[in-house]
Amino acid sequence: MARKEKKPGETLFEEYYSRCWGDRWPGLRESLFKEIDHYHLSDGLLQPYYLDEASLYPARELDVQPGDEVLDMCAAPGGKSLILATALQGTGSLTVNDLSPDRRRRLKQVMEDHLKPEWRENLRYTGFDGSLWYRHEPSRFDRILLDAPCSSERHVLNSPEHLKKWSPGRIKSLAPRQFALLCSALDAVKPGGLIVYSTCALADEENDLIVERLMKKRKGRFVTEPALFDRGEETRYGRHILPDRDRTGPIYYCRIRRLNGD
Ligand SMILES: C[S@@+](CC[C@H](N)C(=O)[O-])C[C@H]1O[C@@H](n2cnc3c(N)ncnc32)[C@H](O)[C@@H]1O
Repeated sequence: MARKEKKPGETLFEEYYSRCWGDRWPGLRESLFKEIDHYHLSDGLLQPYYLDEASLYPARELDVQPGDEVLDMCAAPGGKSLILATALQGTGSLTVNDLSPDRRRRLKQVMEDHLKPEWRENLRYTGFDGSLWYRHEPSRFDRILLDAPCSSERHVLNSPEHLKKWSPGRIKSLAPRQFALLCSALDAVKPGGLIVYSTCALADEENDLIVERLMKKRKGRFVTEPALFDRGEETRYGRHILPDRDRTGPIYYCRIRRLNGD
C-alpha cells in the first residue's frame, strides 16, 4: 500500500488556523507579519524596557498590591516581572521562576539592569518545573502570574524553519503542559488569591479551553473574574488582544480566583 504523503508544515498551519478563524484568518495572518506597537516601560526603572504593548495586560490584571507574596511562574526574560516588581516596590516578595537555565540567566540580567537595588531586595530566583510547585509550596502566594509556554504563532509564521516543521501535534503537546501548570498554580495560590493565566497563542486549545478543562477537573474550587481593563476582545472566560484589530498581541489572559474555604 502506498504511504500517505505528509503535508508540509506551511500547509498544515494554514489549514489549522483557517479552520479556527474562518474569514478572519487572512487579515489576522497578515497582521502577524507587521510591526507591533511597542511600549517603553520606564516608571521607576533604571532604564527603559521595551515590550509588546499587549504584554502589559496580564501583569496589570494581577492587580498586585504592596506587601503581596507574588509568584511569576514562567518569568524569563522578565518583561512582566518588571511590572510586578514595580507594583511591589521592594515590599512583600516576588519569586521569579523559570525552568530554563539560559533564560534564567537572561532574567537575572534584566532584573539587575532595570530595577533599583531596593526594589530587588524582595526577589527570589528559582528554577523549578512550575507544574510541580504545588508539592513544595501549597497555598503560599497571594498572586500568581502564569505566562505559559505556548505556540507563539507570530514567531512560527516569521520563521521559515519553524513553519516547515509545524504540525497540530505542537498544540497537542503544549496543551497538557499548560494545563498541568495551571493546576499547580491553583494549588500554590492561597484560598482567595488570584491567578492570571496568559499565553501569546492564537489557538483556543491553549487559551479558553485550558480554563474550561480546569472548570471540569477542579470544579467548585475557583471562579473566573472579569478583566479590570477593557482591552482587546472578550472571550468565553478571558480576553484576547489580537493584532489585526489592536496592532499588538496576540495575548490571551484570564483571571482565576481560588475560592475561600478551598
Ligand atoms: C512565554 S515565556 C515567558 C515570558 C515572560 N513571562 C516575560 O514576560 O518575559 C514562557 C517561559 O516558560 C518557561 N517554562 C517552560 N516550561 C516551564 C515549566 N514547566 N516551569 C517553569 N517554566 C517553564 C520557558 O523557559 C519560558 O521562558
